[in-house]
Amino acid sequence: MSILNKHAVLEKNVTLLAIFAFLVVTIGGLVQIVPLFYLENTIEDVEGMRPYTPLELAGRDVYIREGCYVCHSQMIRPMRDEVERYGHYSLAAESKYDHPFQWGSKRTGPDLARVGGRYSDEWHVDHLRNPQSVVPESVMPKYGFLEAKLIEGTYIADLLSTNRFVGVPYTDEMIEAAQADFKAQADPDSDYDGLLERYGDKVNVRNFDGAPGISEADALIAYLQMLGTLVDFSTFTPDASR
Ligand code: HEC
Repeated sequence: MSILNKHAVLEKNVTLLAIFAFLVVTIGGLVQIVPLFYLENTIEDVEGMRPYTPLELAGRDVYIREGCYVCHSQMIRPMRDEVERYGHYSLAAESKYDHPFQWGSKRTGPDLARVGGRYSDEWHVDHLRNPQSVVPESVMPKYGFLEAKLIEGTYIADLLSTNRFVGVPYTDEMIEAAQADFKAQADPDSDYDGLLERYGDKVNVRNFDGAPGISEADALIAYLQMLGTLVDFSTFTPDASR
């Protein structure tokens, strides 16, 4: 019996065909997946990355709740038009603490991966209140109500713990101090040394919405103002050896 005839046996027996097809797909799958278990890391580590501060994390939750991602991506592709408009292309490491990540290709509005520091806090307050007041042709909805919603960070320690559960390296100390750090970041008159010690000197400490109390707008603007600012691209060089 030649090899061709043997193959005819497979083709005429559905059960045999299914078994062999399953075997072939299994082997193919293992060849792709198993090497990944032996790589120490599939994400190149980058200097400057840190977990979100409690206030930023709360702002990120507002961002997700309000569906900002429906119109905005946070992923700059390595193509010339994108890099010229938005800045250095996004690195995998820059979203390693994002659960869920905010990549995507649906852009009704611009990409926000590097919007941090591009505008003043006042600009953001005006823009969230009434986007058309600063960009007349904007189709972005109004989010002024976020300023009226005051938050205390009551559950912020739980939110940090949950993020730690899925792999974000929050320490016990960070979780313990979460509510204090949450409040300190929105109050430049507070004692925020502990916050900077835990999260680094680059953390913005300001009254983001300019009004008394900590509002959801404070948290959201704190988040927007740090997006894409952690890695210093004037000194960054991609390391292809890792
Ligand atoms: C219906 C689509 C839509 C939604 C939803 C939306 N935006 Fe926008 N956004 C836009 C458009 C369009 C622009 C560009 C015009 C402008 O600046 O308003 C924009 C611009 C922006 C800018 C300025 C970006 C830049 O580089 O100039 C920021 C910041 C921003 N949006 C934040 C948000 C946040 C935060 C939310 C959620 C609370 C949100 N957007 C929800 C459509 C949207």
